[in-house]
Amino acid sequence: MSNTYGTVAVLGAGTMGAGIAQVCAQAGSSVVLQDITDEFVQKGLARIRDFLQKGVDKGKTTAQQRDDVLSRITTTTDRAGASRNAQMVIEAVPEKLELKNGLFRELAGVVAPTCVLASNTSSLSLAKVFAGVAGPERCIGMHFFNPVPLMALLELVRTDATSQATIDAVTAYGKQLGKEPILVKDSPGFASSRLGVCLGLEAIRMLESGVASAEDIDKAMVLGYGHPMGPLKLTDLVGLDVRLAIADYLTKELDHPGFKAPELMRRMVADGKLGKKTGQGFYRW
Ligand code: CAA
Repeated sequence: MSNTYGTVAVLGAGTMGAGIAQVCAQAGSSVVLQDITDEFVQKGLARIRDFLQKGVDKGKTTAQQRDDVLSRITTTTDRAGASRNAQMVIEAVPEKLELKNGLFRELAGVVAPTCVLASNTSSLSLAKVFAGVAGPERCIGMHFFNPVPLMALLELVRTDATSQATIDAVTAYGKQLGKEPILVKDSPGFASSRLGVCLGLEAIRMLESGVASAEDIDKAMVLGYGHPMGPLKLTDLVGLDVRLAIADYLTKELDHPGFKAPELMRRMVADGKLGKKTGQGFYRW
């Protein structure tokens, strides 16, 4: 299968990175999945294997497709090595500005000048993520949604420097990944996180003040508004730590009280109740 980007490096093998690597491999790209330890990389690969196997069990995926996708994914802990021959690098490392900016500054000197540099950040300023990176016209936000293989949206975020050629090529690739791209300008929380996190935080405040149980707050949105999943269960799926970091960032950037993180959320994060990934959040998983 031929597509826009034959070789893609995905940096970060967590929930998002593993999902992104999977959909890129499904679209026919050769993917190098990198993380800082072999344990993280193997966990990411296991997540992909499990998803594909579930697909086989459900009759949605053939055993041959599963094997083909897996055969297109290689793993490494060497970030520069993973990126050197890539036509596109997508980072999905933790939501820390210095970490992402440092990574792109380092890689800009390693990859080809035409290699697209993409960040999966869910809310950080792309202008800051790419500050000082050589070739800003090839830099773009590619925000995927969890679970990546199932969610149709791809939020593309352009900075003032992103070229139209980059937007066009990445939009085409997004479609090859089976996603529906939307284009958003670089502003705090973009279109998706600004709205989604606001709803999640308000639901936590309601739980905190005893308005209703977690189940009933979620049911209000599922049955009353047709959301596929209530805001508390969704916060569990995304990770309380991830949403707390976004909330703190948006509070700072937007100066809006709606984004102030509830105490309950801070306590749960401090106690390691991060949601699905730790087995306990607003629900037990
Ligand atoms: N392989 C192939 N297909 C699979 C599969 C697998 N391993 N697992 C599930 N599927 C298919 C199912 O067969 C089903 O297909 P049909 O519709 O054709 O029947 C479909 O995927 C849905 O799966 P399920 O029926 O098992 O599950 P569901 O209907 O409960 O949906 C969900 C699960 C897609 C997660 C849904 O609950 C949902 O959309 N939730 C909201 C998720 C969301 O909002 N995510 C965004 C989070 S925010 C974010 O990610 C941004 C950020 O920056 C943090």
